[in-house]
Amino acid sequence: MPTGNPGPTPDDIRARIHTVEKTFTPGRPISSLAELVGREASLRELLRVVASPGRHAFVVGGRGAGKTSMISCFLDCASRAAPQITCVRMNCENSSFKAIWSKVLKRILALQGRAPTQFDNVDLSRLDVEFELACVKSPLLLVFDDFDEVSNLEDLAKFANLIKVICDNAVDAKLILVGSPGAATLFKRAHISVQRHLQIIPLDELDPANVQEFLSDRWRQCGFEIMDDALSLAMELSCGLPYSCQVIGKHAALLALSHKRNVITVEDVAAATGQVDEHILLMSAINSKQALNRRSD
Ligand SMILES: Nc1ncnc2c1ncn2[C@@H]1O[C@H](COP(=O)(O)OP(=O)(O)OP(=O)(O)O)[C@@H](O)[C@H]1O
Ligand SMILES: [Mg+2]
Repeated sequence: MPTGNPGPTPDDIRARIHTVEKTFTPGRPISSLAELVGREASLRELLRVVASPGRHAFVVGGRGAGKTSMISCFLDCASRAAPQITCVRMNCENSSFKAIWSKVLKRILALQGRAPTQFDNVDLSRLDVEFELACVKSPLLLVFDDFDEVSNLEDLAKFANLIKVICDNAVDAKLILVGSPGAATLFKRAHISVQRHLQIIPLDELDPANVQEFLSDRWRQCGFEIMDDALSLAMELSCGLPYSCQVIGKHAALLALSHKRNVITVEDVAAATGQVDEHILLMSAINSKQALNRRSD
């Protein structure tokens, strides 16, 4: 006669793998505030900039720091709280100033229920962005993600001049640029007076308490117990980088499942770290060291 616990069936394991993959999402940015961990201060700062006339923002962080996630949550909240604002998020992806703006203007028109064909016949070399912005319904909240992709100095100068002109002429449009610290530095050099109008919002690494909460809550949601040394190692190895937390969380859980275990061990975490891009790990280790040095200065 069979005795004892028969153990999980293949269907149970499949269902749990599905839960892990829904809970940890290293492959996509977060878009709902309920899932965003530890960015309250940055969101508040961004809100302050958006509410200040003559101010625009540059959200700065390394790869995987959570820039797109933070901005997506911000836009989601802004469009719910103030539906009269037209919000557009654009990926700059290797595009010129003109190409980016013709896409942005088309999206604005489409969102405002107007024919997006208006710009089809516009000679892009003559596109007067400030004039066009003044012609569409305001307020506007315009996000330029992956701004590192705009590396041509002339295009950077055009963006900087546009910010200056928008401020000088009180056009009701807010620009939020998003990119690496290097991109922000390059941009600030593009126009002497853009610095007065630009607030840099750095996305630092998450606090250890946030990392702990993120990992332990989500592992528990997936039905795991967590060994103390596994949690400590995961916190150390993730260096507070949201992307690394997601990768380590996901792969440690999948490894535990592959061994039909309900507990996350230090071995699971150590092996899961191999899934984090080495370059990203190195950069986040350097960044957290620099942040520590800044704090002790
Ligand atoms: N605050 C957060 N809480 C939990 N997970 C986060 C948070 N921020 C980002 N993530 C997760 O980290 C990963 C990277 O996030 P995101 O794509 O927003 O980073 P990024 O800075 O825009 O990266 P890139 O520079 O490559 O565009 C995603 O899997 C996302 O789900
Ligand atoms: Mg991004």
